[in-house]
This record gives sequence, structure tokens and C-alpha cells, in this order.
Amino acid sequence: MPIAFTTRGTNIPVTRVNSVITIISVVGARPNFMKVAPIARAFKQYGDVRHMIVHTGQHYDAAMSDVFFRDLEIPEPDIFLGVGSGSHAEQTAKVMTAFERVLADVRPDAVIVVGDVNSTLACSIVCAKAGVPVAHVEAGLRSFDRTMPEEINRLVTDAVADWLFVSEPSGVQNLKREGAADDKVFFVGNVMIDTLVLFRTRKPAPPVLERLGLNKSGYVLTTMHRPGNVDTRESLGRLMTLLTALALKIPVVFPMHPRTKKMLQSFGLLEVLPEQCLVTEPLGYGEFITLCEHAACIVTDSGGIQEEATYLGVPCITLRTNTERPVTVTEGTNTLMGDRFDDVAAMVDEIVNGKAVHGTIPELWDGLASERIAEILYKKLSGTHV
Ligand code: UD1
Repeated sequence: MPIAFTTRGTNIPVTRVNSVITIISVVGARPNFMKVAPIARAFKQYGDVRHMIVHTGQHYDAAMSDVFFRDLEIPEPDIFLGVGSGSHAEQTAKVMTAFERVLADVRPDAVIVVGDVNSTLACSIVCAKAGVPVAHVEAGLRSFDRTMPEEINRLVTDAVADWLFVSEPSGVQNLKREGAADDKVFFVGNVMIDTLVLFRTRKPAPPVLERLGLNKSGYVLTTMHRPGNVDTRESLGRLMTLLTALALKIPVVFPMHPRTKKMLQSFGLLEVLPEQCLVTEPLGYGEFITLCEHAACIVTDSGGIQEEATYLGVPCITLRTNTERPVTVTEGTNTLMGDRFDDVAAMVDEIVNGKAVHGTIPELWDGLASERIAEILYKKLSGTHV
């Protein structure tokens, strides 16, 4: 006889056909890999859980995907959907169509989605319609800027998810304001920091500084890939002017995202950077984190790097007008520069001359978030009381 029970707080009947609990974690794009790695590890402690990884293939280059599976020792994906690139609608629709078949074949007891990429949105909608409980890890973050595709992905995912795992206090406040029931929301800490903690305590740092000829605290690390910054000639041109000004003062390392490279090539801007700006291919996790740790300062438009910089205590200048991760500003080392690009070079000067912001590590960014998530989900799905 199948065991039928109701998950607390959501009234979703969950039916299991045998005593093994099957959970699928979805990964799609680069920032998902470091979030699912510790979750997969945490479920290894539960002998009656079959944890599967489904890779949608949103990111597919070796440098954007495979290298992370190796660096982070993530088990090979059980299922690869191979959806690739496309417009937002195309990519989302391809993931939805392929993932619907996965749900029908595997019949998981629950699905975990992480972050805010198109794969997160697509799989959570499919689960909601198929009646499969879905847990969103990194729920509640809000930039309040609906021109960012990620903000739409966050809002929709949180609206349909059954369990909302939150990384910082603002996430709890946002979800409550939007009417999420208290018993769906769990403040568990930051899974990406779990990966960082494990990496720093267990792995020797790769010799990337030597490989690139850099000195500790003697360079600026930069990343840019947001459509708002790189998809028009004007904004990309301003960024190149900024990087040129910085590179004339201090070496700048620029691991280049494929989207940025494509846009620079199409606008004929790739050649304008001076040789002190060291452009590299996208880097693996270990090399990138090592570069973060030893940078004088990080200049970025990424979401996750604001958090990693905060944990590492490295000053971070974010080239955006908002952040969905406000704790990195209120407690961490992050400064939002908005579009005041002209002030960035002066600010980097101040940092290099010892006037950096000193932050603290936010609550529950302790390396144990994934264990908390696994324990809560296990108790829910096995019918044990939480
Ligand atoms: C996606 C996420 C973004 C995340 C970022 C990290 C969405 C809406 N955006 O943005 O939140 O911060 O990943 O990288 O989900 N490309 C390759 N090789 C790849 C992957 C992409 O060449 O392996 C090219 C594609 O041609 C594509 C472009 O890069 O046109 C952008 O990829 P896409 O997945 O659409 O969005 P990202 O900008 O990477």
C-alpha cells in the first residue's frame, strides 16, 4: 500500500510507493552548482533518501558547467536535459517541457530548486501544476527591480513553492510582507557559503596567482554579465572606460562571461582594454574563489559574489543601483555604486590605501545551511514531526 500523508503547512498530499524518499535537485546555470553541491552532500547522511540531480543544460560550456562538477565533487547529473540557450520564453519553455517528462518518469517526492535563474522558475511552475512539492533555496530575496529577469523568477518561484528556505533576514521580511504562511518559511543560512567554508577548510588553494603573475592584495578582480550592464553599447562602453582607468592604476583580472564576450565582440569593444587588464576565460570555482580571497577589491555586478566577498571580508563594489542581498551592505563589505561609475576608480584608490569597509559575517552563514535544509525536508517527507 502506498503511504499517504500531508506535508505540514501546505496540505499537499504526498504519496510514496515505497520506503525510499526520492528528491530531485535542479541545476541549470553556473551559480546553481555551488548551491546544490552541499545539499547533495547533506542528503548522503539519510540512507532512505535517493537524491538525484537534474541538469537542465541552461549553461553547457565546459568552463561554465563541467569544471564545477569536478571542483565541487558534485555527483554526475542523473538526468541531463540539454536545453541550451534561447530567448527567456524559449529557454523557460524548453526546460518546462523536458522537466514535465522527468516528473512523470521519476515521480519524485519533492523537488529542490535554487537561486533565481530561468531553470529555477521553469521547474517550480511544472512542479506546482503536477502537484509535486517544491522547496526553494534562497527564497525571499528581492531587488524590487522588475526589469531584472531574476526578480521575476524569484517572485514567481516563491509564489508557487511549498517550502521557502531563506539565507538572510530580509528574505523572511519580504516573504511575510507578500503573505507567505509562517510555517512555510525557514531561515536556514546560506548554502553557497557552505561550499565556500568546505572549500577553504578542506582544499589546498590552487596556484592561480602564480599562474596569472599576481601578488596578494595587488590586483582588482572584476566580473560583469548582467543584461543591464552589458547588453547595450553605451553601458558596455562605460564599463570599458572604467576598467581602463582602473587598470592604469592597478592590475585588473577579468574572467569573462560568454554573454559579455559576445556583446564586446559584437560592439567591436574587445580590443579597447589595456594590457594591464588581464582577460581570462570563465574560471573554475577553486581558482575564482582564490582570486576573490586575495583581491585588493572586487568590482562586480553579480549577486553571489557580493556574498562571497562579505564572507571573505574583501571589499566589494557592486555596479548596480540595487541588491537583493542587502545584508552584504548593512553587515558585509559591499558598497552599491549605482551608475556612479566615475567614482569607482577613486574608491578603489581609497581601499588600496587602507580605507576599506570592514564587515561582519551574517547570521547562520556558518557552513551548515544545507544540513538544516536536509533535516527539515527529511522530517517533512518521512512524516516525522518538525
Ligand atoms: C544566467 C542567469 C543569471 C546568472 C548567470 C550566471 C537567467 C535569467 N540568468 O545568465 O541570473 O547570474 O546565468 O552566469 O537565468 N552561453 C554560452 N555558454 C554557456 C552558457 C551561456 O556561450 O554555457 C551564452 C549563450 O549564448 C547565451 C548567453 O551566454 O546567449 C547568456 O546565457 P543565459 O543562460 O541566457 O544567461 P546568463 O547571462 O548566463
